[in-house]
Amino acid sequence: MRASLHTAIYALLLPVTALFAQTVFAQDAKGKNNFTLGMSQCNLGEPWRVQMNADIRKAAKKHRNVRVVYKDAQNDTLRQRAHIEEFVSAGVELIIISPKEAAPLTEPVAKAVEAGIPVIVLDRRVLGDKYTCFIGADNKLIGREAGKWIARKLGGKGKVVELKGLMTSTPGQDRHTGFREGIAGSKIEIIFEADMKWLEPNARKEMESALARYDEIDLVYAHNDPGAHGAYLAAKAADREKDTMFIGIDALPHEGVMYVKQSILDATFQYPTGGAEAIDVALKILSGEEVPKEITLGSRLFTKENVEAGGEPIGVVEAEPAAP
Ligand code: FRU
Repeated sequence: MRASLHTAIYALLLPVTALFAQTVFAQDAKGKNNFTLGMSQCNLGEPWRVQMNADIRKAAKKHRNVRVVYKDAQNDTLRQRAHIEEFVSAGVELIIISPKEAAPLTEPVAKAVEAGIPVIVLDRRVLGDKYTCFIGADNKLIGREAGKWIARKLGGKGKVVELKGLMTSTPGQDRHTGFREGIAGSKIEIIFEADMKWLEPNARKEMESALARYDEIDLVYAHNDPGAHGAYLAAKAADREKDTMFIGIDALPHEGVMYVKQSILDATFQYPTGGAEAIDVALKILSGEEVPKEITLGSRLFTKENVEAGGEPIGVVEAEPAAP
């Protein structure tokens, strides 16, 4: 009797302990359940990257057996290459990297994987396929949707400035190519383009040159919100901000979304950090689960019209309305 009561209690508790084991104590194949993860951030000088680290920290806190060691490359590619080598020699169980540039970070990432350390690549890509999992939003889609939105907003024609993100990084390349696809077939003219390397002060300087050269600028498409804000500040200093529309990407609540609410930007496209997803995937990898090679995150468009309602998803085909 007593034995069967024990069995019953045990049977009741089993699913609970199993759940506990899965979410809190991931175990690798050797039964190891304390993990040190190395996180290499390319630069912590921008709010979006601070947010990515905060998202990672928040997600990691839910797992008592996970410790994350953070490194900031301060926008220096060589320093970031060294990070990966340091993580490998320290013997971390897994590496998360948000690389500054694709080509120079490809080799150290591949070497880490060859040394048996899984690598999650976040937001900006490396070249080839020698990594464990890539997590990020579809930058080509965002660029294309931005192009289509801009073409509609300008009635199919106008003079546009494009302030590009670092063109040795994949989001810069994809936001550019996607945008050009989005405006294809319209009469939009790109009168000025420059690589502002994701940085607001560079964007401001480039916009000053554009303003000096052109009396008429209908719209600025910047590859991120700091870039769009830098361009706005340059136009404002020249007393010309009311003649031009400003579009950015990132849509952090306390940055781009706030700028839209303040009518500084006309639109911004969300670029999720993927920080929480990275921890999720890291735990799966460490417990020996299969994970997809690519995880594509969604994005939303914020404009004056929809910002209070939380924006709207992009790239989603709305269901056809039912016939009356
Ligand atoms: C931050 C940032 C973001 C941008 C992302 C692209 O460093 O420039 O503003 O969306 O990187 O990788």
